[in-house]
Amino acid sequence: MLVRRKMESDQSGHDYEHVRRVVRNAQYLLDKEKKADDFKVLLACYLHDFYDEKLVQDVTAEKANLRHILVQQFEISSDTINDIFQIIDQMSFAHNLAETHKLSLEGQIVQDADRLDAIGAIGVFRAIRYGVVHGIADYDSTLEPREELTQDNYREDTTIINHFYEKLFKLEKLMNTKAAKRIARSRTKLMQEFVSEYEAEYRGEK
Ligand code: ADP
Ligand code: NI
Repeated sequence: MLVRRKMESDQSGHDYEHVRRVVRNAQYLLDKEKKADDFKVLLACYLHDFYDEKLVQDVTAEKANLRHILVQQFEISSDTINDIFQIIDQMSFAHNLAETHKLSLEGQIVQDADRLDAIGAIGVFRAIRYGVVHGIADYDSTLEPREELTQDNYREDTTIINHFYEKLFKLEKLMNTKAAKRIARSRTKLMQEFVSEYEAEYRGEK
């Protein structure tokens, strides 16, 4: 439907398949977190990249357009839309670096579901895909990964391998729910093995 049409054109990893995986992650987490509002969580998952500043030119206009559609076509109440927009606005990684927001349980689940899709085997795939699309080098042994990521030190001169140190290895600790932490542990281990192996092969150690 709506989200699908919009996302199908994107090639960088923010595609409709990503949205569907986030929904599946959230369904799994919802099964463990019985008190959360399923409807809000799932709708926020479907819409979480809809008006992302990286994907649309005019965020305010896109948001207003989405609100209009949700009210007119889907008869969703203003209160529910406000809650969903609040979840989406507060959950992004960069956003949370500037200011730590206390997320609602629903927000925590959507954020975990989105972050889970950035790590593990799928995370490796997405990082490579993103790097290729954006012309980022695979690896540079002279370029130290940055310790702290803040909103203003996003830089172009990173590498795909550095992205694991700068962001992907850190996501495990940032998971909100117990179930997501558990999944993140094994997915992070896989990424660490992948990166260590890459570096060993690069150095010609085996
Ligand atoms: P999000 O808001 O989902 O974190 P991003 O645009 O930052 O969106 O990332 C989309 C995907 O591309 C994620 O899987 C992320 O790990 C990956 N990615 C982002 N920046 C880089 C980078 N510099 N190198 C490799 N992968 C990246
Ligand atoms: Ni996402």
